[in-house]
Amino acid sequence: MTNIKGIYIFGILLLCATQIKATVKRDIDVSSLYMGISEDRLPKEIVPLSYEVQIEPNIEEQTFSGFIKIHLRWINDLKKISLHAHFDLTLEDTKIKLKQMTRDFGNRTTFEDITILRGGRLPRKSIYVLHLKELVKKDSECMLEIPFEGNIWETADGLFRGHYTNSTTLDQEIYLATNLKPNNARRLFPCFDEPGFKVPFTVSIARPTDFTTIFNTPLLRTDPHPLLSNYMLDYFDKTPPMSTFTFGFVVTKLQRWNNEPNLSSPTINIWSNQLDADFKEIHEKLYLTYQTIKDYFNLTIPLPKIDVLAIPDLPTADSIGIWGILIMRDTELLKKGNFVLARELLSQWIGSWITPEWWSEANINKALTSFLAAEFVMTMDGGVEFNGKYPMTILYSLYYELSKRYPHSRITKMKQETESFKTELVFRMLNFTLGKFTFQNGLRSFTLNHRYKTFTGDDLWVALSNQAIKDGTLETHFNVSDIAKSWINQNRLPLITVNRDYDKATAIIDQKLYLRERPHDVPEKDKMLWWIPILVSTPDSIKLSNYTSYVWMNGTRQINIANLPKSNQFIIINKEEIGPFPVNYDPQNWNMLSNYLQTANGRSAIPTYTRAKLLHDAWNLAYAGELSFATAFDMTLFMKYERNHIVWSPVFTFIDHFGRYIDMSEVHKKFEQYTTILLAPLYEELGPESENEEHSVTEMRKLAKTFLCRSGYQPCIAEAQKSFELWLNEPDTPFDRIPKEYICPVFKWGSMDEWKLGLKHLSQFPKSRPQSERTFLLKMLVGCPSEQEKINHLLQLVLLESNSNFTENDILLILNTLTGGSVGYTSLLKFVSKHWTLIQERFQNNTNLWDKLIGSATGMFATKEGYNMVKDFYDQHRGEFGSAQHIIEKSLRNIKEEAQWSDQNLPVIEEWLETYLSKSTKSN
Ligand SMILES: *[C@@H]1O[C@H](CO)[C@@H](O)[C@H](O)[C@H]1NC(C)=O
Ligand SMILES: *[C@@H]1O[C@H](CO)[C@@H](O)[C@H](O)[C@H]1NC(C)=O
Ligand SMILES: *[C@@H]1O[C@H](CO)[C@@H](O)[C@H](O)[C@H]1NC(C)=O
Ligand SMILES: *[C@@H]1O[C@H](CO)[C@@H](O)[C@H](O)[C@H]1NC(C)=O
Ligand SMILES: *[C@@H]1O[C@H](CO)[C@@H](O)[C@H](O)[C@H]1NC(C)=O
Ligand SMILES: *[C@@H]1O[C@H](CO)[C@@H](O)[C@H](O)[C@H]1NC(C)=O
Ligand SMILES: *[C@@H]1O[C@H](CO)[C@@H](O)[C@H](O)[C@H]1NC(C)=O
Repeated sequence: MTNIKGIYIFGILLLCATQIKATVKRDIDVSSLYMGISEDRLPKEIVPLSYEVQIEPNIEEQTFSGFIKIHLRWINDLKKISLHAHFDLTLEDTKIKLKQMTRDFGNRTTFEDITILRGGRLPRKSIYVLHLKELVKKDSECMLEIPFEGNIWETADGLFRGHYTNSTTLDQEIYLATNLKPNNARRLFPCFDEPGFKVPFTVSIARPTDFTTIFNTPLLRTDPHPLLSNYMLDYFDKTPPMSTFTFGFVVTKLQRWNNEPNLSSPTINIWSNQLDADFKEIHEKLYLTYQTIKDYFNLTIPLPKIDVLAIPDLPTADSIGIWGILIMRDTELLKKGNFVLARELLSQWIGSWITPEWWSEANINKALTSFLAAEFVMTMDGGVEFNGKYPMTILYSLYYELSKRYPHSRITKMKQETESFKTELVFRMLNFTLGKFTFQNGLRSFTLNHRYKTFTGDDLWVALSNQAIKDGTLETHFNVSDIAKSWINQNRLPLITVNRDYDKATAIIDQKLYLRERPHDVPEKDKMLWWIPILVSTPDSIKLSNYTSYVWMNGTRQINIANLPKSNQFIIINKEEIGPFPVNYDPQNWNMLSNYLQTANGRSAIPTYTRAKLLHDAWNLAYAGELSFATAFDMTLFMKYERNHIVWSPVFTFIDHFGRYIDMSEVHKKFEQYTTILLAPLYEELGPESENEEHSVTEMRKLAKTFLCRSGYQPCIAEAQKSFELWLNEPDTPFDRIPKEYICPVFKWGSMDEWKLGLKHLSQFPKSRPQSERTFLLKMLVGCPSEQEKINHLLQLVLLESNSNFTENDILLILNTLTGGSVGYTSLLKFVSKHWTLIQERFQNNTNLWDKLIGSATGMFATKEGYNMVKDFYDQHRGEFGSAQHIIEKSLRNIKEEAQWSDQNLPVIEEWLETYLSKSTKSN
């Protein structure tokens, strides 16, 4: 069903921008880097044992030269050597030398030249092959010496040059840095550029006298450059064995912040452009975070220092990931909170010290780092940084995305993100079910055993299984791999249904694929099964933060549970969302839950995430057709008393989403009345904004106000119009002076003149203002009106007169926005129908626009009348739809389905609302 997608996107843009931002912010990490990674793998017949590298950058000319010695061992008899070297790297075959090493009886090493016949790149691969004159025997060791030359880039690939403004002189300063993740070491020197080849590096790097070079390991000594007078040559400590992509250095004039000497190891140094800034607090925070991670793993990284570089401007959004160095934007470093620091520091253990076997495993690495960073933030500040919402923001977006018929509609990047979020929630589930200590100890032995090595997902699951079985937190015939893979390998989530037998105190529990969008005709859905922890809570146990008394639903479709409480006591499954799955109950159990939540005791006994979950699940299940709307509405009754923003947050999304969905019917007015009854007490109690209030309170007030305004709550409309008058009277008032939440009510409830004023402002939108403001204004102009007249006026401008004030992107945005409400799409269909010939002439050749136009005009109807309108339109212009033929046909199929839904559900909703509203008028 396409309907909801459009609506949801619209809703999100309007309301949930902050949530989305939170998700995105957490995600400046790796996944995008691993897409399209080249599979130029090397044969494992010759392996490196160590490298010796010298690099000489020429900053002015943006080039570098260097020399590498690679100590190699032959695993098989072989006459050629293959190694990675990027096309940008220049190697001269005649200067490459290979010497076989033998030890004589005095244990002295002697070298014997081996002739290299020729060298060259494999076609279209970054692999360089050297052909030898003689066969070299298995177990031989050789020293390969290669001089090379390359370029310094302005983009963050390989060795790059960046700029910033000197905070004292205001001059432009240059720095050099490397970004070798995931496979750009081959741009810097010829090497075995795969994570699995972990060997030590001995490195020297040249730099101009007035710069400093920071490398993976500390400086050993500095010599004047033998040839260049204004250059120095720095020698660094030999590194521990490490992957090529964790190699890195920075050549810079940033100053080291002077801190009192700290005796604990490693030393954490901060480098910055801000001489006068006080990094004491940041420094302490870094130590605290470091200490927390170290204690968690009981492992100190084998590097004596970590350099943290606050670079003002970086040409990459992703973390650079050098072992022993963190490169961050200074704004990022100075930010409040610990999450980003924890995640970056964690990569010194997970990612650098232990490394995913291949990039396909990177998601597991990312998910684990992200989960642990969250764990550390909770340890350090109790989760204040997440506003109490971890992991609800990502959980809700997963519930939403994965219950579509076609999740993430072919957007690969989004797919990788959801996969990684889901894996993060699997870690959270394992932490709760195996218990914090088993989880931690399992990770401890996992990191201990994979230091200086690579790992696969299976290595991790085995470590957790072994620990859990040892600790008795997992039955011996189960294993974590089966559990984890049932969640990770299936791109979906399960729904649990509980049917109690109140006489026998038992229940039957079923699992099936969770689908929200209709129709539920996903192929092979009956084969999908998960390992699900069934944690049953009763009125007595719901308060306890104890998650260990659950049973595993072991990949079977149905289980029975016994020993449930008396028939007058509810049960709750999946308290605090310990696993990412919704739960449905029989009506009697829902009913007991609804009643309990309406008591003050009940609200305080049921924990916050669980209250949010009950609401979220009830609504979504009703929407999915799994539960009666009457029951779902009953579950909202307690919101009249609810004051916690975490519980409110899914409700706002729902009011928005659902309100738009039913806005074609008469029921919508009653729904608005109902939401006003729920929201007004909250809004009134919140009162005016006070200075020191928490961000979440401000946010909640803003949302409450937005919805109240939209439902026509009189005090809000009055306020909005007053503020809008200012604009009417003084047309030069910048748009951003009008509070955003007032714009929509004025366009909706206000006059045509008020609306036209907005339109005029849009066409004269100042170039100096951010485009996002113009987009916002356009969306409000299109999405808010409840009169067709306004929409028709706009359609006249953009569809008939080729008004140059609207670009093609504007038109796409308008078409998209019109799908957000029945006034919009109904007007659009009527307009297109009326002006068919002209519109067809103008747009049919632009397939992109044409398809969107037909899709928007027909796709959103959800009633029988809607079906008839679209069918008439289709019949009238049969054969004239061109590329959009299948689109309108799909619309017709969907509408049929939706109309059935409306027929079934709208009467139930209407009846519930009528009963409620008449009761509440009587009692007032
Ligand atoms: C040579 O080195 C090996 C291993 O390092 C050692 O076992 C052996 O005793 C040494 N031989 C001599 C002659 O020093
Ligand atoms: C800023 O410029 C001064 C004077 O040239 C120089 O000494 C200092 O190292 C520069 N600082 C940075 C952070 O580039
Ligand atoms: C931490 O590691 C040390 C060895 O480095 C070991 O002796 C100690 O028992 C470990 N502590 C715990 C709690 O596992
Ligand atoms: C891990 O589980 C423990 C309880 O066993 C809980 O206190 C902790 O918050 C969990 N960590 C995360 C990040 O959810
Ligand atoms: C949690 O519940 C289990 C089973 O009911 C019990 O054995 C355990 O002692 C409880 N743990 C805590 C911390 O209450
Ligand atoms: C799950 O457990 C049941 C009962 O113990 C057993 O019969 C079944 O084979 C198990 N299924 C799987 C997939 O492990
Ligand atoms: C674009 O907007 C400006 C300002 O309102 C107006 O003067 C102009 O006529 C508009 N262009 C068209 C083609 O309508």
